[in-house]
Parts: sequence; structure tokens; C-alpha cells
Amino acid sequence: MNRMQLAEIKEMIDMAIKIKQNAYAPYSKFRVGAVLLCELGKKYTGCNVENSSFSLTCCAERVAIFKAISEGEKEFKALVLVSDSEDFCTPCGACRQVMAEFALDMPVYMGNNRGLYQVKTVAELLPLNFSL
Ligand code: THU
Repeated sequence: MNRMQLAEIKEMIDMAIKIKQNAYAPYSKFRVGAVLLCELGKKYTGCNVENSSFSLTCCAERVAIFKAISEGEKEFKALVLVSDSEDFCTPCGACRQVMAEFALDMPVYMGNNRGLYQVKTVAELLPLNFSL
């Protein structure tokens, strides 16, 4: 990865930390922020949105992806994810399947609360994804 790309990932981590403040997580208190980089450089943010009917909760990654899709984006270049935890924030299985629908080769940067991250492609995160 070149310096330009590293700078962009760093910027996306900062954006994810910021959008995490908008998380609506009164039940779990687990706030997540996501930033999705699209083909022409536009970035879409997302935070988790919980509901008292717990299964209606939507994860930060899916919020960002659905925002991008609804704006006509189809090509995703990278996704950054952070929580407040010192552990790397890994996407849930449902979000992995949603990512796999659009971008198997996309790198997913899974950050922690110290600005460090681990990176894996969607295909690595979800081998044998379901597809029709
Ligand atoms: N959450 C996400 O936003 N993304 C994930 O990949 C894992 C879980 C949210 C959902 C819920 O609001 C909280 O984290 C605890 O599960």
C-alpha cells in the first residue's frame, strides 16, 4: 500500500471515530462507526441504529452500504470499521453476507480504539458466501 492509500485509510478511521458518536446504542452501549469508500472517491458513513425490538437493529456497515447503494453507487473500494473496544471491530455475519453481494475483493479495515487495524478481504471474512 502506498502513502497516499495509507493517508486515505487514516482519514477514514478518523471519520469512522467521528460518526460513531452518532450511534444509537442505548441497549448494548456498543457504538460502531463505519466508512465505505466508493469507486470515484466518495465516502459514505454509517453508525449502528438499535431498536427496543432488538432484531430490528441495523449495524453500522449495513447503514453505510445501503446509503451508498441508494445513491447509485455500485463499486466499493474499502470499508473501515471501529468501535470503542481495544479489540479489532470485526463485522457480523449478516454484514459479511451483505458485503459479499457487492464486493468480494474489497479490503475491510477493522480498527480498534487505539487507531490500529487489521485488514482482510470480504472473501477472506466470508468463505463460501451464499449467492443465487
Ligand atoms: N454492530 C455493528 O454495528 N456492526 C457489527 O458488525 C457488529 C455489531 C452493532 C449492532 C449492535 O447495535 C451492537 O453493535 C451490539 O451488537
